[in-house]
Amino acid sequence: MPDQHPITLTVNGVTYARSVEPRLTLADCLREDLELTGTHLGCEQGICGACTVLLNGEAVRSCLMLAVQADGQTITTIEGLAPDGRLTPLMRALRAHHGLQCGFCTPGIVVQMSSFLDTNPHPTEAEIRRALAGHLCRCTGYQGIVDAVLACAQRSMAHDESGAGSR
Ligand code: FES
Ligand code: FES
Repeated sequence: MPDQHPITLTVNGVTYARSVEPRLTLADCLREDLELTGTHLGCEQGICGACTVLLNGEAVRSCLMLAVQADGQTITTIEGLAPDGRLTPLMRALRAHHGLQCGFCTPGIVVQMSSFLDTNPHPTEAEIRRALAGHLCRCTGYQGIVDAVLACAQRSMAHDESGAGSR
């Protein structure tokens, strides 16, 4: 039997203790051991971005990380962004602007762009396209995604200006 290592992960606010093989990726651990299958696996080599999750608040590719490297750390997956099942403003904007078709790339893009908008709430279109550059979408041609992120940022700006609070 291969070596097993005890790890503890806090994912979407829940702490999990598991015993894992050292070769197990964080993506496989999330999907198979924790049954959080919203994190998708496309290329498994860091190219497509479908597996993006937040590690201690930073967007990372969970296919490029071993589960043992995440021991003791805090992770947010796509499930954790809408824990009560209500869509976030970015998710609603993606739906309204036709920013998804098959939806395979969508979880990684939502995680990435949520984190991006947190650090840059009023991006230009060029900045949005740069932030999206590491994500492959085979369906949308990207315009709907860019429009959705821009709409989200503009709504947030309108809220800022009216003093109605943040996004
Ligand atoms: S599955 Fe991780 S980047 Fe493609
Ligand atoms: S919506 Fe199908 S890959 Fe992006």
